Amino acid sequence: MGWYAKYLFPRLLDWSLGTPPMGKYRRLALAPATGETLEIGFGTGLNLPHYPATVTRLTVLDSENMLSELVDQRIAACPLPVTKIQLDAQGRLPFADQSFDSVVTTLTLCSIENTAPALAEIRRVLKPQGQFIFWEHGRSDDAQIARWQDRLNPLQRVIGAGCNMNRKIDKLITESGFAIEHLDRFLLPKTPRLLAEMYRGIARSRA
Ligand SMILES: C[S@@+](CC[C@H](N)C(=O)[O-])C[C@H]1O[C@@H](n2cnc3c(N)ncnc32)[C@H](O)[C@@H]1O
Repeated sequence: MGWYAKYLFPRLLDWSLGTPPMGKYRRLALAPATGETLEIGFGTGLNLPHYPATVTRLTVLDSENMLSELVDQRIAACPLPVTKIQLDAQGRLPFADQSFDSVVTTLTLCSIENTAPALAEIRRVLKPQGQFIFWEHGRSDDAQIARWQDRLNPLQRVIGAGCNMNRKIDKLITESGFAIEHLDRFLLPKTPRLLAEMYRGIARSRA
């Protein structure tokens, strides 16, 4: 990993995704979470203050160990029991089938290189009635914007340390055996349009 991805990017990420308005969107996205909850692509722990009291225990994983001192302080300040694991979500997760009531990703399906195995694992570890809760950015439904997202995606992958801005998030989820129960599509205010296309919702495993 280069200097940018190792040292500068985690700070930029924490700063840009940790603003109070982003907190509002995190709270809204996480509101349905209940019970045993797994968060994939935990980053710097910015969701921690926004989990509702209906969550009983949190397991969080990320392939990186960004800003570990800061993240450990955030975990210590969290009223929930939290277990942090450094792991690539594209491989088999160390959890039994049907062990979580909720699995959460926020702004993460853009960054996992190959989402299909990660989504298959999310499906495997969710209980039959469990919910996959997502808040992601992705491809615009406006063809002209989407074309620009395709053109500039190679640059975004460099700046965003592997982040893609042109993924059709709902399609990725439904192609992986989920039925989307609820989907909000909206633009994040005060954000360049190419990065502002939000997908927030809940999916459940198709039988
Ligand atoms: C844009 S950040 C979002 C962080 C956090 N979810 C948030 O909302 O602030 C994307 C995160 O996905 C993680 N990630 C990327 N690929 C991954 C993988 N294969 N397995 C687990 N985590 C991954 C990155 O390390 C990073 O922390």
